[in-house]
Amino acid sequence: MQPSTARFVLDPAFDVAVVDPRLFGAFVEHLGRCVYTGLYEPEHPTADEDGLRTDVLELIRQLGVSVVRYPGGNFVSAYRWEDGVGPARQRPRRLDPAWRSIETNRFGLAEFMRSLRKTGGAPMLAVNLGTRGVAEALELLEYANHPSGTALSDLRVAHGDTAPFGVRLWALGNELDGPWQIGHKTATEYGRLAAATAHAMRLIDPQAEFVVCGSSGRGMPTFGAWEAEVLEHTYDLADYVSVHAYYEEREGDRDSFLASAVDMDALIEGVVATCDYVGAKLKSAKRIRLSFDEWNVWYMSKQSPEGPRDWSEAPRLLEDVYSVTDAVVVGSMLISLLRHADRVAIGCLAQLVNVIAPIMTEPGGPAWRQTTFFPFAQASRYGRGRVLQVHADSPAYSTAVHGTAPILHATAVLDEESGAVTIFAVNRSQSEPLALRVELRGLEASAVLEHSVLTDADADAKNTLAEPERVTPQAAKGSEIVGGVLDATLPPLSWNVIRLGSPKSISGA
Ligand code: AHR
Repeated sequence: MQPSTARFVLDPAFDVAVVDPRLFGAFVEHLGRCVYTGLYEPEHPTADEDGLRTDVLELIRQLGVSVVRYPGGNFVSAYRWEDGVGPARQRPRRLDPAWRSIETNRFGLAEFMRSLRKTGGAPMLAVNLGTRGVAEALELLEYANHPSGTALSDLRVAHGDTAPFGVRLWALGNELDGPWQIGHKTATEYGRLAAATAHAMRLIDPQAEFVVCGSSGRGMPTFGAWEAEVLEHTYDLADYVSVHAYYEEREGDRDSFLASAVDMDALIEGVVATCDYVGAKLKSAKRIRLSFDEWNVWYMSKQSPEGPRDWSEAPRLLEDVYSVTDAVVVGSMLISLLRHADRVAIGCLAQLVNVIAPIMTEPGGPAWRQTTFFPFAQASRYGRGRVLQVHADSPAYSTAVHGTAPILHATAVLDEESGAVTIFAVNRSQSEPLALRVELRGLEASAVLEHSVLTDADADAKNTLAEPERVTPQAAKGSEIVGGVLDATLPPLSWNVIRLGSPKSISGA
């Protein structure tokens, strides 16, 4: 039996936008073992002079993380940034009420900035607008960015960082719409505080860019209304509004899980519509863009409500182990972000190490790549350039949660310098291969450079400490371009990266 076929046309005359490199960001929160025994473990055999695990730094470089949001998350809403600077021995141990853990503060702003220098990412610093406000945000800005000659900038210099950190991107609080958030606020309270904070910070640093909190999820009762009111207060000051979404497979409904990006698309389009509604109301020509600064698969429902949150240091929290299916869904979420590159400027996979993360570690032991590592690394590497429009004609299937969904989910990115085109494609069918036919118009690419596929006979296969390389992408055979048409086969339940270029690039000539 012939597999069913999905088709689309690629033509550089029809594009979406140039990808902002910050779409491939991640998130480091003081939560569980993301920082301690994850990124930072001075006692580890691979630790460098700053206490950073070089095995983890190497994996972060491989992952291609362009921006890192820090230090939270729920954690930031009770955080005192000054606890995390200066001589490590003098830093206070504190209760972290967000995760009911002990925070030693051995890792703070300077250590975070050092980790970025070694991995190549830019910072997105979150300020505490839960228990704190304008004054503390200004103090953090002065400490971080002012060259010298004032109390706080000189303190940074005295702490050993003579050059300012030059932080440009600031998150104004975290998920303050959520009743669980420390310092939870109404949209009016938050909107006014965010506006006052941004206004004051910009007086000190006119280049500062601000992310205001959108809703913590599409399911929040105030979704939409929250964004509209917050933006009415902050429209002229905000550059981005935050968007958060996590998905998980519900018992026996893999079909719906595989179509999670249908919900992600609706979420993005709903937030964009709300931003533009406020812009229209205010008669503003400015367009607010989205910072999708928490997204991932997260088995939240399987998490024990108490967890080991017993005031211990670096407890094992949220250490989800990801399957091939999870990786395919993560790939599909990346496709959704790329397809909306005209309005989504920033994306942060939540989180980076150990906590719902693509990188896992053992204290004193190895670091390894989860299944979800691979789609992210490939999208970050090959998803830079101009996103081309993909209007696919695809067979569809029905899902309990998302209605009818296309079996093919795809996007394509043109690297204008080399003329190479990368197609990212997911086959959502659990049982059937999908034939893919792409008509290439006005493109130089005339050969398949690589077709990499992540799939497995066991869709639940995972990488673990015992078997860290169980799942990796493999080369697929049989994809070819004949007469300007690409033909490829996407295995059932698979993430595919098909790179097209000129035959010269194959021989390396
Ligand atoms: O990423 C884990 C948590 O999820 C973050 O702390 C919070 O912002 C979100 O609810």
